[in-house]
Amino acid sequence: METRFTDNPFREGIVARRAPEPCALVIFGATGDLTKRKLVPALYNLAHEGQLPAGFAVVGFARREKSDDEFRAEMRAATGQFSRFSPLNPGVWDNFARGLFYHRADFTAPEGYAALRQRLEQLDRDRGTAGRRLFYLACAPSEFAAVIEQLGAAGLAHRHGPQRIIVEKPFGADLPTARELNRVLTNAFAEPEVFRIDHYLGKETVQNILSMRFANAIFEPLWNQKYVDHVQITVAESLGVETRGAFYEQAGALRDMVSNHMMQLLALTAMEPPSSLAAEDIRDEKVKLLRAIRPIRPNCACDCSVRGQYARGTVGGKRVAGYREEPNVAPDSNTETYAALKLHLDNWRWSGVPFYLRHGKRLPKQVAEIAVQFKPSPAVLFAAASAVPLQSNTLVLRIQPDEGISLRMNAKVPGTALNIQPVKMDFRYGGAFGASSPEAYERLLHDAVVGDSTLFLRGDEVECVWAITDSIRAGWAENPTAPALYEAGSWGPRAADEMIGRDGREWRRP
Ligand code: BG6
Repeated sequence: METRFTDNPFREGIVARRAPEPCALVIFGATGDLTKRKLVPALYNLAHEGQLPAGFAVVGFARREKSDDEFRAEMRAATGQFSRFSPLNPGVWDNFARGLFYHRADFTAPEGYAALRQRLEQLDRDRGTAGRRLFYLACAPSEFAAVIEQLGAAGLAHRHGPQRIIVEKPFGADLPTARELNRVLTNAFAEPEVFRIDHYLGKETVQNILSMRFANAIFEPLWNQKYVDHVQITVAESLGVETRGAFYEQAGALRDMVSNHMMQLLALTAMEPPSSLAAEDIRDEKVKLLRAIRPIRPNCACDCSVRGQYARGTVGGKRVAGYREEPNVAPDSNTETYAALKLHLDNWRWSGVPFYLRHGKRLPKQVAEIAVQFKPSPAVLFAAASAVPLQSNTLVLRIQPDEGISLRMNAKVPGTALNIQPVKMDFRYGGAFGASSPEAYERLLHDAVVGDSTLFLRGDEVECVWAITDSIRAGWAENPTAPALYEAGSWGPRAADEMIGRDGREWRRP
């Protein structure tokens, strides 16, 4: 099960990928939402696409009493609801479900793991999984350490065979807890066997950031402080916290989205070209970039960051509650549902180019994009003759929805007068490639099965990111003002406009 260069997803199409070998995937937290909405539907989709090996087995591990057949029936209903290949193909489902099992046990009780081991050995005999195991921590983060330790104690960790472990987010809650989790993990598993998930890396358009940058010759020469004025990374959500109030109260926008998904977008956008497409070379460059982020000193946190919280308002024509009125949220909660940051990268390429990041819930629309704003053209010729200032070129990488790339440039309006207007050159993945993209979890599960860690985070990478967000939180703790309220359905608190406005810039309206 060693990782091979040719497995790398960035080389797909250039080099054929290896067919995965039969293995058993054990999902801890099999009765939870993630299993039902994402994991089992993604596995079914892979089976539908013929991408799972014949002997592949899934063992759902959870506390509730349930038979294999009950588990299969529940998973069938969920897959019918959440798979992109719904209605289900009965033949594909039946075949897939024959490898689906349920194992009832407590996360902390050794007997459950001894029984799991026996069950897996039985699967080795019945389905030819040959000791290949993949463990997926989809349970509550507070249970991660116990599960890892029990796997080690039961002889199910790396010293005893070819194993891997996938760890869901959040990976710790700050630098000390992430370090501790890394310590527990690497006591039981070797680092190459650990697959820390960030589902944004499974999104096609996120992977395409690197392809766009390094498969084309025209962008890279401009991709630096000589030509780029600033970069804006936006991940806006129109949804509120829905049923996740209790979790969100502990997390907040900074930890829930910025410290993982948005930092990944930043790293892929700004990193240096890796020396090869091998997992370690790509991850080395990401870490180098993350290390170049200038730490935000607590006394600067107010100038370089803004936190907000949504109040009642209207989103998509519907009146919605304020955050403090959501279920399981304290009526006087100071948890932020919006965060905006201004970051500087202290390296040769990006010196002096601010990167503005913003994320919020209950914003007017669901959109994720990276906008690279170029410097204005010299103030001569058309710029000098134009009555209104010419707009600078902007390259926008749209992550979702309407995945694509657009370039704003200036063109002359047809006619006798000299009138220059911005126009857009637009490329859409859907239009160009037709077929629907695999879901993020399909790509990631497949990569974990074949042992390719390119799209997963390394231990030092998560620690780098926590160091940055911890410094911001320390600044907020030193200035414990309540987050600025913004009306649901607006683009966030005024303080965020003021932050970017102090630099003579403004947020885009995606
Ligand atoms: C999750 C966060 O990691 O990502 C959620 O916990 C957020 O709060 C979600 O809504 C967004 O993911 P996507 O794929 O819908 O953009």
